[in-house]
Amino acid sequence: MQQHFGGRPPNPRSVLLAEVAQATQRLADAGVPSPRNDAEELAAFVHGVKRGELHSVKDADFDARYWEVIARREAREPLQHITGRAFFRYTELQVGPGVFVPRPETESVVGWAIDAVRAMDVVEPLIVDLCTGSGAIALAMAQEVPRSRVHAVELSEDALRWTRKNVEGSRVELRQGDARDAFRDLDGQVDLVISNPPYIPLTEWEYVQPEARDYDPQLALFSGEDGLDLIRGLERTAHRLLRPGGVVVVEHADTQGGHVPWIFTEERGWADAADHPDLNNRPRFATARRAMP
Ligand SMILES: C[S@@+](CC[C@H](N)C(=O)[O-])C[C@H]1O[C@@H](n2cnc3c(N)ncnc32)[C@H](O)[C@@H]1O
Repeated sequence: MQQHFGGRPPNPRSVLLAEVAQATQRLADAGVPSPRNDAEELAAFVHGVKRGELHSVKDADFDARYWEVIARREAREPLQHITGRAFFRYTELQVGPGVFVPRPETESVVGWAIDAVRAMDVVEPLIVDLCTGSGAIALAMAQEVPRSRVHAVELSEDALRWTRKNVEGSRVELRQGDARDAFRDLDGQVDLVISNPPYIPLTEWEYVQPEARDYDPQLALFSGEDGLDLIRGLERTAHRLLRPGGVVVVEHADTQGGHVPWIFTEERGWADAADHPDLNNRPRFATARRAMP
């Protein structure tokens, strides 16, 4: 017979777990992509426990506000707007209306960039994050690349209200401005430029998930008919900022892998332009090296 130590065994029929099962079904019916994950995350959030501790919530402590947050998620409000936080690599960020919620696929873009900077063997690498949003990329780079000097730029004042809170106390130097004209004082000195810019073609508006279309800022999503307007501008910024041998890393849509590397041409002074997949093996980011003179 199974023995339990230190109190009552977890009750698989607890009120909360039964409500979570019901909520999962409601979210699935509403088309939420990961219904069980979100039902459990919201239960943990409302009851102030970790997801793995849901079984320990006593029946008498079930909080009916759970159904209020489930109704919001059912209406496709992003999970991260409801909880007010997003996780990105080893950081936790504050997010909400006005700022883009960082996505898991960007984590592999940052992973590649960290490896690239480490391989450079520069003592205090100079890194620039263009279009920083919540500051997710810049903060991860600062945290994971020891002695790096990380600069970030964001255009939207609404987004910056969140970015400022997130970068407070970190090594990230934040500026407001247009990425196409930013950091003239760093021209020719930067080791790595990284960006997850807006890249969705305007023509794809109707296919965008409601969480993004209705809650992420439009400025964070769309960039011209083919989605590449800003990436073309960022090529010029990266060209200006990077030292010879420096590297640019730009995220793009999974349909753009055949286009973005071609923006970084040899005629413009680039070498080793390549495209890379994310963890789901979908084309996700392009990289190129500023050629030696
Ligand atoms: C797709 S979001 C990415 C945010 C963040 N880098 C991330 O990965 O979570 C793009 C961001 O670019 C900002 N943005 C758009 N156009 C810009 C521009 N011309 N200059 C600077 N930032 C811009 C948007 O406000 C938004 O925060």
